[in-house]
Amino acid sequence: MPKIKEERMEELPKLENTLVYTEFDDDNPAPKGRWNSEIFDKDLPIVLELACGKGEYSIGLAEIEPEKNYVGLDIKGNRMWVGATEALEKGLDNVRYLRCFIDHLDQFFGEDEVDEAWIVFSDPYLKKERKRLTHPKFLKHYRKVMKPGSVIHLKTDSDVLYEYTKEIIKQEQLELVDDEPNVHQNRPGDPKLSILTYYEQMHLEKGKTIKYLAFKI
Ligand SMILES: C[S@@+](CC[C@H](N)C(=O)[O-])C[C@H]1O[C@@H](n2cnc3c(N)ncnc32)[C@H](O)[C@@H]1O
Repeated sequence: MPKIKEERMEELPKLENTLVYTEFDDDNPAPKGRWNSEIFDKDLPIVLELACGKGEYSIGLAEIEPEKNYVGLDIKGNRMWVGATEALEKGLDNVRYLRCFIDHLDQFFGEDEVDEAWIVFSDPYLKKERKRLTHPKFLKHYRKVMKPGSVIHLKTDSDVLYEYTKEIIKQEQLELVDDEPNVHQNRPGDPKLSILTYYEQMHLEKGKTIKYLAFKI
């Protein structure tokens, strides 16, 4: 492992805005059901950034809508370290990061604890549909912790993931709230859709068109 990655992984659990678990016990209880009351100590709607990478959306959204609490989730700790340290430097007390597999969401959040979620530039997994974060298997995980009628936002460069997600929305009879096939051409200046992530910048440099969907779970 490169030295910088090793150092970040070692530092990550020590950052005061980041939760990393090897196991749950009395000294390190699961955060489930305690996010607002103990972790944020502020009773606000909870928004997840799923597959957050360097966590740019949690930071950007927290700056735009400070009246919500944000949790960025990813399994890659060295990327998360970047967002976590930036959020600390910016003094954002309504942003936390949680290193975990999204597949284990219900171990970390209680029923109806989550109000909204963003999925930004998650991998389209061209050959493995079951790994796509809008696969019905993942929607089941989201339903376990999100309030009924909560909105999920998807931003992607991938035509495959965009079309696939629209198909799943139809199949699962979900309410499509927004569908924008070309974000940067048609919604310039939209504050939330203008937040750029590491992967989005790479896709834009390659001339890719960015798409956006919002639907209710
Ligand atoms: C293409 S990157 C996008 C990162 C970031 N959202 C961005 O736009 O820069 C996809 C991220 O999804 C994470 N990921 C994929 N499947 C996951 C899962 N089941 N649980 C947790 N993280 C996952 C990967 O670790 C990776 O950081």
